[in-house]
Amino acid sequence: MKHTRIKDLLNATEYGQQVTVKGWVKTFRNNQFIAINDGSTLGNIQAVVDFANTNENLLKRITTGAALAVSGRLVESLGKGQRVEIKVESLEILGDSDPEKFPLQPKKHSLEFLREIAHLRFRTNTFNAVFKVRNALSFAIHQFFFERGFVYMHTPIITGSDAEGAGEMFKVTTLDFDGTPRTPDGAVDYSEDFFGKPTNLTVSGQLEGELAAMALGNIYTFGPTFRAENSNTTRHLAEFWMIEPEMAFYELEDNMDLAEELLKYVIRFALDHCPDEIEFLKSRLLEEEKSKPQNERSEMDLVAKLRFCLDNRFERLTYTEAIEILRQSKPNQKKQFKYPITGWGTDLQSEHERYLVEKHFKKPVILTDYPADIKSFYMRLNEPDDQGRLTVAAMDILFPGIGELVGGSQREERYDKLVERMHEMGVPTDEMDWFLDTRRFGTAPHSGFGVGFERLVLFVTGMTNIRDVIPFPRTPNNAEF
Ligand code: 4AD
Ligand code: MG
Repeated sequence: MKHTRIKDLLNATEYGQQVTVKGWVKTFRNNQFIAINDGSTLGNIQAVVDFANTNENLLKRITTGAALAVSGRLVESLGKGQRVEIKVESLEILGDSDPEKFPLQPKKHSLEFLREIAHLRFRTNTFNAVFKVRNALSFAIHQFFFERGFVYMHTPIITGSDAEGAGEMFKVTTLDFDGTPRTPDGAVDYSEDFFGKPTNLTVSGQLEGELAAMALGNIYTFGPTFRAENSNTTRHLAEFWMIEPEMAFYELEDNMDLAEELLKYVIRFALDHCPDEIEFLKSRLLEEEKSKPQNERSEMDLVAKLRFCLDNRFERLTYTEAIEILRQSKPNQKKQFKYPITGWGTDLQSEHERYLVEKHFKKPVILTDYPADIKSFYMRLNEPDDQGRLTVAAMDILFPGIGELVGGSQREERYDKLVERMHEMGVPTDEMDWFLDTRRFGTAPHSGFGVGFERLVLFVTGMTNIRDVIPFPRTPNNAEF
């Protein structure tokens, strides 16, 4: 007999029908009541065993974590909180689970513990909900761009360039380190390497995306990117997914409009398509917050926070304006920032970003026009300001609880200015001649941005550690599986 998804049965009203379900045992009570989950929903179906007529050895094998198939009649349930249950007529154990060894017992486990058994944490409701929301968000991203005629462009994972010019790359090589061939002057001889030159895992698909946008108009990439930055924080991964749209003939303002529209669209999509999962995550968060002192609890629950974000225009201001606000602020009654704002030109720390979004504006903020010295080589240089300071047409979107969610800019489309900036910042122009060709042949204003996908998932799920929103996190000293 074909099996039915539990999700499709929980609200069924056709009592008496014969059904088969397959899933994993969550709990087994009184030798009689099995709660079964098959991953299709956060809810379990209850299967009631006629224990007097069931082999004792079989009953012993119904343990938390075991996989089984049960068939029987769907009947109205008298139990609380469930409409239906299955009166078991036949039961087959598909896979045993030794109760002495299975680490997931029917109780609440800490996220830290679950991170240590990341290969099994999919079986919990929390991770079921998180990865369903992650799935809905990625689908929504493709739908958003498809509806607007953007072309999904697959950019390479292995590249010969450093798109951010920050030197945070993982090298890719087939050279054997012990016998690494050397040139006469002692340098590594890459002519023996697979590609005949140094290569690395991509830090961003932007540069290739620009090539495509300067022909197809509007494109986006959505794929894994890699950063060998040694940041052991709750917001950084060595392997993360990034959404990078790139649009010909867009200026900074258009870029901001698109980013805001995209974020609101995908958040709304998640609310509409994952109501049960988000409701579950909201309750999880409320439960977790109970252990915090009253004044540290968030003012809004998860759903209210998401709706608030949809209903309010993101605050837009320049870096220079933000510095002024930060200079005049007192983050709390007595204390200053850990890194006080000393002057114009320094990069913002996450405490500053979070002050702006969480304390000052209390909503998402788009910061623009950063000092040229602290941003990447490809960002378009603005006219010097009235004090002669140089800024670029950059935009970062900061989110409550997250900090930087989006980084983007209008691109430097003027050949001479771009080459000058590359020289100044030590970016090799000879190796990136292909990139400069876009500026040689039919250059035009264009813009783009990158959304850190895991940070978006963090925001929508209310989780607080980035390791808990990607199935297989890669962080310093951690590359399990
Ligand atoms: O600001 P970033 O470095 O910008 C770029 O890579 C541009 N090439 C994007 C573009 O304009 N096409 O990264 C963009 C976003 C950040 O705002 C952040 O959300 C996320 O990517 N991000 C990370 N997420 C997790 N772990 C890391 N190590 C991240 N580094 C950046
Ligand atoms: Mg950035």
